[in-house]
Amino acid sequence: MRHLINILDLSVDEIDKLIDVADDIMANPDKYNEVCRHKILATLFYEPSTRTRLSFESAMMSLGGNVLGFSEATSSSASKGETVADTIEMVSGYADIIAMRHPKEGAPIVAAMHSTVSVINAGDGGHYHPTQTLTDLMTIRHEKGRFDNLTIGLCGDLKFGRTVHSLIGAMARYEGVRFVLISPEALRLPGFVKHEYITSKGISYEESESLEEVIGKLDILYMTRIQRERFVSEDEYLALKDSCILTAEKMKSAKPDMIVMHPLPRVNEIEVAVDSDQRACYFKQAHYGRYVRMALIMKLLGLIENDVPYTPAEDKKPIVYGVYTCRNPRCITSIEHELPQAFKLADKENSIYRCVYCETRQNR
Ligand code: NCD
Repeated sequence: MRHLINILDLSVDEIDKLIDVADDIMANPDKYNEVCRHKILATLFYEPSTRTRLSFESAMMSLGGNVLGFSEATSSSASKGETVADTIEMVSGYADIIAMRHPKEGAPIVAAMHSTVSVINAGDGGHYHPTQTLTDLMTIRHEKGRFDNLTIGLCGDLKFGRTVHSLIGAMARYEGVRFVLISPEALRLPGFVKHEYITSKGISYEESESLEEVIGKLDILYMTRIQRERFVSEDEYLALKDSCILTAEKMKSAKPDMIVMHPLPRVNEIEVAVDSDQRACYFKQAHYGRYVRMALIMKLLGLIENDVPYTPAEDKKPIVYGVYTCRNPRCITSIEHELPQAFKLADKENSIYRCVYCETRQNR
């Protein structure tokens, strides 16, 4: 059973093929409007969403399929204390494919373990958001015509921004990509992303607190919102909320062909005056989401003709059970106490283990 939990669950060739299919759907929508007839997508959204949920639902309906689900945890049995595992045991009997968003990191991994149908991670806490990355990659291919040899600036909340984590994982697989990480110190990229995808692969990167200073060298500027809902302290959020703002004035120092992306929703981190700049791509980016999710649904239901062959990478990292306890308050194990505490060896040389659900490093 194929699931999409992390963007690395898809090979580079599979991503290329998905974007080819999405392009074909955009050009010939009628060819696809019956391909998912009698198929059901369940959208289980335990956390708010506009674009992701609606684009998934629109995608399934545009393929001739049906949709059921919930858009907030309070309207599901989660509010009565039902576990993810129990919910999924049932929903996988009601639907052919599941898209799930959850505030706790690693919840989709638990879902995949209990599902008899494909599970798509539609965002888990401050961890990953692989389908936003598919949307981002489609935008990059359309606007820049390539994935390699690009300098990508990621600006804003790099700590909790799950779209940033997945995009870095995806882009780190292409030749000659450089990252410029722009954030206040308190919102820097977490170790599981920085180490796993950048430093351990020898990829070139720099960190800066000033967008003005680095904007001139970027091919892509990926702006993000400060993720208010992930802060433990409101005061800390208030102190950081205006730290990275893109203005029309700053755009004057950017390359004429730099593109500005943003997963949306925007709060105040991009001045509205930037919207009319030719280089602003964020609304187009949101639009692509529907088509690439149509392609993804087709793929996971086995409906793409001549799909590229898939060879899963062998994961040989040893797992230890019951040795460490995850201390991340956003991990699914923080609310579902019967889940086994499992840690995977992430860095043998330095004996670093990471929680298999949320990838937080073990406490020493
Ligand atoms: C993002 C998310 O949910 O992580 N939104 C989206 O899916 N397009 C970004 C965000 O909420 O800031």
